[in-house]
Amino acid sequence: MVHYQRYHQWRKVQGVEEDEEAHNSLVMEWANSGYYKRTRPKLLSLLLLSLLSCTFVFAPHLFGSPCSFSLLCTICCDRSSIRTDVCTMKGDVRTHSGSSSIFLYGSRDNKNSFTDFASNIVDNNDGGEGETGELQHEKVKPYTRKWETSVMDTVDELDLISRKDSAGQDYKCDVYHDVPAVFFSTGGYTGNVYHEFNDGIIPLYITSQHFKKKVVFVVLEYHNWWVTKYGDVLKRLSDYKPIDFRGDLKTHCFPEAIVGLKIHGELTVDASLMAGNKSIVDFRRVLDRAYWPRIKGLIRDEERETRAKLSPSPEALLRIKEEERPKLLILSRNGSRSITNEDLLVKMAGEIGFRVQILSPDKSTELAKIYRALNSSDVMIGVHGAAMTHFLFMRPGSVFIQVIPLGTVWAAETYYGEPAKKLGLKYIGYKIQTRESSLYDKYDKNDPVLRDPSSVTKRGWQFTKSIYLDGQNVKLDLGRFRKHLVHAYEYSLSLKNTKPRLQSQ
Ligand SMILES: *[C@@H]1O[C@H](CO)[C@@H](O)[C@H](O)[C@H]1NC(C)=O
Ligand SMILES: *[C@@H]1O[C@H](CO)[C@@H](O)[C@H](O)[C@H]1NC(C)=O
Ligand SMILES: *[C@@H]1O[C@H](CO)[C@@H](O)[C@H](O)[C@H]1NC(C)=O
Repeated sequence: MVHYQRYHQWRKVQGVEEDEEAHNSLVMEWANSGYYKRTRPKLLSLLLLSLLSCTFVFAPHLFGSPCSFSLLCTICCDRSSIRTDVCTMKGDVRTHSGSSSIFLYGSRDNKNSFTDFASNIVDNNDGGEGETGELQHEKVKPYTRKWETSVMDTVDELDLISRKDSAGQDYKCDVYHDVPAVFFSTGGYTGNVYHEFNDGIIPLYITSQHFKKKVVFVVLEYHNWWVTKYGDVLKRLSDYKPIDFRGDLKTHCFPEAIVGLKIHGELTVDASLMAGNKSIVDFRRVLDRAYWPRIKGLIRDEERETRAKLSPSPEALLRIKEEERPKLLILSRNGSRSITNEDLLVKMAGEIGFRVQILSPDKSTELAKIYRALNSSDVMIGVHGAAMTHFLFMRPGSVFIQVIPLGTVWAAETYYGEPAKKLGLKYIGYKIQTRESSLYDKYDKNDPVLRDPSSVTKRGWQFTKSIYLDGQNVKLDLGRFRKHLVHAYEYSLSLKNTKPRLQSQ
């Protein structure tokens, strides 16, 4: 829910995106020209060498990395995205948590001998790198909400420093890893399930899946609860225990580090930017594998209980029959934005033919259990809010009905409606009419709150939040809603009947 406040900021930022990029490249040019001046005599040989020593490929759109422009090929930062900065370091990478730094030393092998050579040139010219032996110094906050200053102010910043080989003795390796590391933060908006997936788990998948689990996660603003909550998924992405960057004072050494996470958009994976053309459907497959062991255990326990009752009870037999009916899951809220006539909705859905399950997840609900409930549902209904993030747990082809209260249309479509379609769900955005809102009884019919919500939300986040998010419930017009539900029922039934054919594809 916290993400509402960024509507206007975000739009504004999107509007100036081009200008900002132009500005960035100006800065880069300026910085480089300063460098050129000092090293002018050797410029040609530098360029030549960079061609030889580095993978100096002019293909900036290949997996979205302009890193190919780096002359020194040491620390390579892609700052072109509006949402995130991602830096790559290859060679002798060592962590130093005490100073929030990651060092890259002139290489142990020959791969980076160019770095040493380059630093020599610089030293010979005017000793420009000084006593520190620093070749390059970058700062990065490894969180995917770069455009949002307020939250970025709370995220730890890392110093990425490349140094000459001679300085390499400062921090001795306590732990050698022979696989790359990915550094990211679980601070910021972590704690809100939308952000946990949008700015955490999905970007982590995008950034690390090609390592095929041969990667170590180094976590800033590390929370034990987060590692527990997402443990099943983390195990599908990495064979190694995550490292708490602040809590672990040992110097960890890696052959490569990626600092920061890539992100493609709201709750999505853009296959055209992924190695192996991986999509959000592949991400969901990771979730399915992640939760399967736990779900299998739950099923086994239930079967054991049933067996203990000797012969199958009439209820159990009835349940088998029941399972042929399409299942509707209502993601229920009980504070604001609840459906006040939910009991009547349940009754109506039953009459249409659905099996109905009501789920009211809170922060402590095990994700595997939510996954199980949604993965076995044909239709999900929920009122717009962070819990809609769980549409990710629905099988592609199933139906997602989002009830959209007054004043939340843009957010509902942008954050959940559009991404749900990308996952292959059949999405229905049910925009409520004024009469279905609890605000109808509170405000005059001509009040802008009812007549023109966008004029109110434009006035600022605090209005959106207090009036439409925290102050609104929904009483569904069941006559109007019924049509969508019947449609969803018939669609689900037709899918069930064609399932054998679908599976044989
Ligand atoms: C990539 O995947 C998409 C579906 O996610 C598919 O339509 C497309 O043809 C694939 N492209 C390649 C090159 O495999
Ligand atoms: C999700 O549902 C599909 C189709 O019914 C099933 O094959 C799969 O095993 C389920 N996944 C989990 C983790 O239960
Ligand atoms: C909502 O549900 C939680 C637990 O499920 C309960 O503690 C809380 O009192 C409920 N709030 C309201 C307003 O009913």
